[in-house]
Amino acid sequence: MNKLTKEQIKEKLVLALDVETIEEAKNLVDELSPYIGTFKVGLQLFCGYGLEIVNYIKEKNSNFFLDVKLHDIPNTVEKASYNVIKNGANFFNVHATGGIDMMKAARKGADEASEKYNTKKPIILAVTVLTSISDEILKQELANNLTSEEFVIKLAKNAKEAGMNGVVASAKELKLIKKELGDDFIVLTPGIRPKWSCKDDQKRIVTPSDAIKDGSDYIVLGRAVTKADNRINATERIYQEILES
Ligand code: C5P
Repeated sequence: MNKLTKEQIKEKLVLALDVETIEEAKNLVDELSPYIGTFKVGLQLFCGYGLEIVNYIKEKNSNFFLDVKLHDIPNTVEKASYNVIKNGANFFNVHATGGIDMMKAARKGADEASEKYNTKKPIILAVTVLTSISDEILKQELANNLTSEEFVIKLAKNAKEAGMNGVVASAKELKLIKKELGDDFIVLTPGIRPKWSCKDDQKRIVTPSDAIKDGSDYIVLGRAVTKADNRINATERIYQEILES
């Protein structure tokens, strides 16, 4: 793999704004926008403060990823997707288990809004199997006899058929997804930890440089940066690790 430039690294980095207050989220955007291409607003911040942070992210020319994992009937998802794009998201996600028609409806709603408001083509990612779902839960609670790996690939194929741009997946599944779905199918990987940081509650972690080496298009940084004593220093160390790999 060719060495990445600092600009290319920035494009790949997504920071999860999983914080309790809007002030903390704004501080993170202020501090880290020179290093981070995309800020991810998840359910915690969204349910607490709605879209208050959007303009703040946009002012820094950063991408806005609304991590709301839509899962509903196609009509509802189509209208919600329209509003997600209307309100300034560049990326958002849906659950692939909502089915192909639901994902097609997300594409339709998002593309209509993008055309109307003249935005960049929205990137929609599908969540396949949450990393909190084990093979045992799949079998016992969800009555599904596939292994999680087989189910991930089946759902990723559905997502591609429905016009999704890619999936959210563990970096452990990266190579398999790229092999089965092709290099152009985006894989965004959470569960990223530099060697020096603590694992928190994540079980299947991969370092930023290994995830990039294996083909990750976007890597999600969370507590490894947001809980560091010096967040800029932690981010610079991650850059260094990737540059030296
Ligand atoms: O702090 P940490 O690096 O563990 O944060 C990971 C982020 O990625 C969180 O926002 C979490 O919700 C998200 N995520 C994940 N595992 C998935 C899907 C999303 O950790 N399978």
